[in-house]
Amino acid sequence: MQDPKFTQTILDWYAENARDLPWRRTKDPYAIWISEIILQQTRIAQGRAYWERFMQRFPTVEDLAEASEDEVLRAWQGLGYYSRARNLHAAARQIQAAGRFPDTLEGLRALKGVGDYTAAAIGSIAFGLHAAVVDGNVYRVLARYYGREEPVGTNAARKTFTELATELLPEGQAGTFNQAMMDFGALQCIPAAPDCSACPLAKSCTAHKGGRVAGLPVKQASAAVKTRWFSYIYLRCQGETAIRKRPAGDIWQGLWEPVLIERGAPDQPLDWPADGLRLLRQGVKHQLTHRTIYADFYLQETKDKPALPAGYRWIPEKELEQYAKSRLFEIMLDSR
Ligand code: ADE
Repeated sequence: MQDPKFTQTILDWYAENARDLPWRRTKDPYAIWISEIILQQTRIAQGRAYWERFMQRFPTVEDLAEASEDEVLRAWQGLGYYSRARNLHAAARQIQAAGRFPDTLEGLRALKGVGDYTAAAIGSIAFGLHAAVVDGNVYRVLARYYGREEPVGTNAARKTFTELATELLPEGQAGTFNQAMMDFGALQCIPAAPDCSACPLAKSCTAHKGGRVAGLPVKQASAAVKTRWFSYIYLRCQGETAIRKRPAGDIWQGLWEPVLIERGAPDQPLDWPADGLRLLRQGVKHQLTHRTIYADFYLQETKDKPALPAGYRWIPEKELEQYAKSRLFEIMLDSR
């Protein structure tokens, strides 16, 4: 269903209220791509500084393709969801091999780490393609305005909301409309207690008229959060310490960490020699989306180098800063 009044009201609102974001001042698809990958799971306030640093460090797709994965992970350090950085790096190499930045939805979708949502965002903003972006902000605006009750996150909802958003797209202004919807959801139609008295759409908003703003969009029950118990041991011997690169198939793939002993339960004993072992901090809580980690940090200084578990290597302590680390390891280093 087209709804010219809705579409025009959103565009008018955006003309007055658009956020001034650095990636909105360029048409460079590379810069726009980087911004969209960062914003997949990071708030604008944090993402902006990372985008600026990333663009300084890797100004072109060639710079990114020619960097090492470790360099890219280091630039990403602290942002979380590190598969984004690994995929960006792999995709930069795809683009370099192809000799040009893809400018169709299919071409964009073929890049590692680019799904329907990101392809629509880059395609519409950088190339003017007629494709609707449906993110959490857009869901909320549409669910409320049109009173749609499909639970967010289900395939049924993805389908109906994408169809709805596509019908609303103005010809030749898809990129502007998409960003307008995202800003409208982020600034006006906010998740909790929006100020509907200031909303230009309130008079015709289904949720507002029916007193259902707080109940929309409908949320699906979220996946259970699992708990894990990590004991990290910072070894120190002759100015060196031992680290390993985290393997595939778990959180923080590709990031470096000190000796890790994972326990199945908090009362399980630590399976590690106790000589000279000093507890630095206990029960440091670290929250990821589907994991709660409780970490104990130990320091163990020895005269001779102990044997290391498989995969670890000794490195000079002063070279630690060159390695990409999880936030939790950074916290540990600050506790030494
Ligand atoms: N979130 C993700 N991409 C965005 C964009 N281009 N503008 C505003 N918010 C966003």
